[in-house]
Amino acid sequence: MIEFLSLMYDNPKLIIETAALKENAVAWRSPSNIAIIKYWGKHGVQLPRNPSISFTLDQAYTDTKLAYRPKRGADEGIALDFFFHDEPNEAFRKKIVQFLDKITPIFPFLRQLEMTIHSSNSFPHSAGIASSASSMSALALCLCAMEDQFFGTLNNIEAFRKKASYVARLGSGSACRSIYEGLGLWGKTIEVEGSSDEFAVGYTAEVHEIFHTFQDTILIASKGEKSVSSRAGHALMEGNAYANPRYDQARRRLHTLLAALKTGDVETFGRITENEALTLHALMMTSNPPYILMRPNSLKMIELVQQFRKDQNVPVYFSLDAGPNLHLLYPETEKEQVMAFIQSELVPLCENGEYIADQVGKGPLEL
Ligand code: PMV
Repeated sequence: MIEFLSLMYDNPKLIIETAALKENAVAWRSPSNIAIIKYWGKHGVQLPRNPSISFTLDQAYTDTKLAYRPKRGADEGIALDFFFHDEPNEAFRKKIVQFLDKITPIFPFLRQLEMTIHSSNSFPHSAGIASSASSMSALALCLCAMEDQFFGTLNNIEAFRKKASYVARLGSGSACRSIYEGLGLWGKTIEVEGSSDEFAVGYTAEVHEIFHTFQDTILIASKGEKSVSSRAGHALMEGNAYANPRYDQARRRLHTLLAALKTGDVETFGRITENEALTLHALMMTSNPPYILMRPNSLKMIELVQQFRKDQNVPVYFSLDAGPNLHLLYPETEKEQVMAFIQSELVPLCENGEYIADQVGKGPLEL
């Protein structure tokens, strides 16, 4: 197991005076996100091989409440109960305990507490929607809020977000971008001042208003468990013959995309969006061993979307995460026409007719 070397935020001083420690709770709602330039391939401790940028979503989110009280025993381990949709969940509990244990150099006070987490997703459980971005960002926000409750060290909003993004990244790379309203950019790039491999930054100022209300309808092509996890997928990039050209391509595309976001060039945005989705899946198909996460209905939907765009001259573009489900991205002004098309042609191809009507969101919310 890799130990987290989080020199940036290691702080042995964050220990609570036990006399002052009272029972309390923190709670955050944090959204998922959809990457336009994809993060695929990492090194070191969750550091990206290329910069990525995503829309923060609105309707697909995780609510996490973390209640705590002083620990009664002298044991130094992480004391945690974990409930997912109000049911105890041992598999999730184990994962979170492991994660919290690794980040105790950042939050040493975690060893002084008994904690109970209640977490739930707004989207149907096992809808095939990746929930690591929303769940890990919600947890990171709770941890930073706790630190601020105890020490008052994160009352500056920028400092709070930066640390939350950093901690979220350690949980799941893409989660670090969910901290921000609109768009989140992660990875050092000369294009954006203040950008970093260690945390994401918000990216809204240079974005044309057409993108502020962009729609994302998530079409559930298949709810099945993925055959290869993201973690394994990132690792396979190390032996992929196309890895280095891919990382260069992502940098070049970011340059073009940022210009399109600024001017409101939806066509260029759409071309890059679809190409990035297919590149991500091409990288999976050219890994060793190769694997395919799209399903027959993903391909059927892609063809229908491209045909509809051509025939009706409507700017609607697809994206894909590391899974079979399509994200349809389009301007709000096209909503009526696109939704009619989705209902008649795409919903029949969705598992149980399921889809999520989402859009660009305002970022996390303290509950
Ligand atoms: O955050 P992870 O490690 O689950 O990686 C997910 C990466 C993609 O969703 C496929 C792309 C991205 O940038 O979000």
